Amino acid sequence: MDNSIKKMFSSISRNYDLMNSIMTFGFDMYWRRKSVKLAGVKKGDSVLDLGAGTGDFAFAFWEKTSPEGKVVAVDFCEEMLNILRDKIKKKKAEIEIINKDVMELNFSENTFDFVSMAFGLRNFSDPFKLIDNICLYLKPQGKIVILETGIPGYPFKIFYLIYTKFFIPLMGKIFAGNKSAYEYLINTASKFPYGNELAGKLLKNKNIYDIKIKKFFSGAVYLYICTVKK
Ligand SMILES: C[S@@+](CC[C@H](N)C(=O)[O-])C[C@H]1O[C@@H](n2cnc3c(N)ncnc32)[C@H](O)[C@@H]1O
Repeated sequence: MDNSIKKMFSSISRNYDLMNSIMTFGFDMYWRRKSVKLAGVKKGDSVLDLGAGTGDFAFAFWEKTSPEGKVVAVDFCEEMLNILRDKIKKKKAEIEIINKDVMELNFSENTFDFVSMAFGLRNFSDPFKLIDNICLYLKPQGKIVILETGIPGYPFKIFYLIYTKFFIPLMGKIFAGNKSAYEYLINTASKFPYGNELAGKLLKNKNIYDIKIKKFFSGAVYLYICTVKK
């Protein structure tokens, strides 16, 4: 299963950023920067970005934490990470890259101020077990910052359903040469909990004591900022 996910991301890696811009009408970069701002990230903070892909969330953190901070980007898809490497060179950024399955990480306790995930949580094999591990890596009062898809309420839901069912796979075919990958991504988005339901599941973790939720695009995308108590 994870191997097929790796292969899928490898096949769409070249045009992944372009597709993100097209699908979100260019808003994805705004969502990332806004999320970092709302999470209260500051210079010198340490961040672990999981399922970092081509790195746009990691860069949004790096812009705030640098030069004293530390950003570590983890992904198991070498082709996605190669694009991140090129961007790091271009931006002269300092982001450490780890090519590994997020389920196999082993950091010391209390290492990071933030652990982040953008559009990754629903792809991981055991997302809630991962959340347990993340709580260990976080410092006391550390935060988990999650950007994930949701489904907007009516009347936007009708547009959203047509757009995701027909237009996104079509654009995936035209721009990324892979319709089924984008069908898969939309399919997982429609099955994964979002909003209060996801927050409720996250709150079952005894280390998470507060979750702030923000909707973007009437709920097509959600931001969750979870504060961890130890
Ligand atoms: C939808 S992309 C998101 C990329 C990036 N965070 C963004 O916002 O554009 C999901 C990423 O998670 C990675 N991924 C999925 N499962 C993973 C796992 N078990 N371990 C590490 N990376 C994983 C994929 O390779 C892919 O790059």
